[in-house]
Amino acid sequence: KNIVVLVSGGGTNLQRIIDCIKSGEILNAEIAMVVADRECFGLERSKKQNIPTKLIQRGKMFSMELKKILPENTDLIVLAGFLSILNKEFCESFSGKIINIHPALLPKFGGKGMWGNHVHEAVLAAEEKESGATVHYVTSGIDEGEIILQKSFEIADDETLETLAEKIHSIEYEIFPEAINKILGIPREKKEN
Ligand code: GRF
Repeated sequence: KNIVVLVSGGGTNLQRIIDCIKSGEILNAEIAMVVADRECFGLERSKKQNIPTKLIQRGKMFSMELKKILPENTDLIVLAGFLSILNKEFCESFSGKIINIHPALLPKFGGKGMWGNHVHEAVLAAEEKESGATVHYVTSGIDEGEIILQKSFEIADDETLETLAEKIHSIEYEIFPEAINKILGIPREKKEN
């Protein structure tokens, strides 16, 4: 199965996917291409692995340009810390084939402006009892697509922005590969082989 990963940032989730493919935790899949919408460390991670890597500058034309270069046999498009909004036409033509990871328990704390530390700040300000991460399908409504996997934890009394971000990242490293296997229809047992 061919995965295309979209990144805008540090790319630790991309690295996790790369590592899981190497270790067999994600089976029968490879990253056909990594596309970034800006210069970022995720691009370097991809190049280092000799994965075909493209930069399409963010902006109105992004979705159209992406559609042009997307390998024909793409099975899944994975947004791993990707900050541009894919347009409606793109989302509709790849419906059910695009997933995103969000650093909160959707449907809470999603939507426009809810990314990175803004999410954690909002969660702390709302004095939430728990937070977590969500893998969901991407539709043209921001963070609105069907939830695939979600994992939560209890927020500690002394939780800070940093500890929250760290805990969420480690949950992401767990549920993202699991969700990818689930969608690509890779049975659990096979992962052990
Ligand atoms: C993750 O927290 C993800 O939930 C959000 O962006 C962050 C990306 O982190 N969408 P990284 O670039 O994978 O380290």
